[in-house]
Amino acid sequence: MRVNNIAVIGAGVMGRGIAYAAAVGGFRVALQDISQAALQSALADIEQNLAQAVARQKLTEADVRAAMARMETTTSLEQAASNADLVIEAVLEKMELKVAVFQQLDAHCPPHTVLATNTSTMSPTEIGAATKRADKTIAMHFFNPVPKMKLVEIVRGLDTSDETYAVARSVAEQMGKETVEVNEFPGFVTSRISCLVGNEAMRMLQEGVASAADIDKAIKLGLNYPMGPLELADLVGLDTRLRNMQYLHEKLGETYRPAPILEKYVKAGRLGRKVGRGFYDYTAPKA
Ligand SMILES: NC(=O)c1ccc[n+]([C@@H]2O[C@H](COP(=O)([O-])OP(=O)(O)OC[C@H]3O[C@@H](n4cnc5c(N)ncnc54)[C@H](O)[C@@H]3O)[C@@H](O)[C@H]2O)c1
Repeated sequence: MRVNNIAVIGAGVMGRGIAYAAAVGGFRVALQDISQAALQSALADIEQNLAQAVARQKLTEADVRAAMARMETTTSLEQAASNADLVIEAVLEKMELKVAVFQQLDAHCPPHTVLATNTSTMSPTEIGAATKRADKTIAMHFFNPVPKMKLVEIVRGLDTSDETYAVARSVAEQMGKETVEVNEFPGFVTSRISCLVGNEAMRMLQEGVASAADIDKAIKLGLNYPMGPLELADLVGLDTRLRNMQYLHEKLGETYRPAPILEKYVKAGRLGRKVGRGFYDYTAPKA
């Protein structure tokens, strides 16, 4: 099946990045969110990312105009779904919300539409089973920030067809991404490792082993990670990371119990970069 039109549901940290990659990859994109403010901020971010790509000579001004001409935003799920060949869902990491969104998509998308979820941890089988198209449901797990990160983890549900897998893979490749095929298991490959490393760093912080900056510096310079685990958690969003940990704790057991400091920061509204404060303060003027 040839994909021309992609709908992206949810215009938060990930949805806006996926919309960027899809538009630059040559697809027509309908970016949908229930929040008009999220759509406006997404468009501003996408324009900024496009400008940076021009500055780095990755794209031309003409590429940018063409990408923006392929992009529309809407608060109507029905409108985004009605013309989509592929939908990529990037709403909050809550199973009941994803199921509700997929049931609406199932009702409003044409019969041929493939439904993908960008979940970090959850079961595409469970999400697909709530629709009448389990064979056309799959997980496409993108990474943050999407414009820069190369990987898409592709996770089949129990009934996902080979054709659906082929569609997901070929779309990811057209977006300039590398793919890996992963069998369904909570947390796939990447989130299972990344959540564990991040949680251990948070435990060290609360135990007073070292400061946040020194934990991150040690992991970057000593273990050759490109980002420290606390910096990464701030980039992901601490609310999103907490939901990931809660799901993995429920499914995989004690090893994944969320660090109390993570719960405390989320309760305090310190959600990371997107609000200006998490393990680090992003509002402070640079020295
Ligand atoms: N943040 C990351 O680094 C990261 C990385 C990979 C995967 N993910 C996964 O991507 C998904 C989205 O995460 P995020 O960090 O972008 O979240 P986010 O909180 O930044 O954005 C979620 C967006 O969904 C919107 N939304 C909520 N309910 C909706 C609905 N019913 N219909 C349409 N839009 C709705 C919200 O208004 C918000 O703009 C989650 O499943 C998360 O686990 C996140």
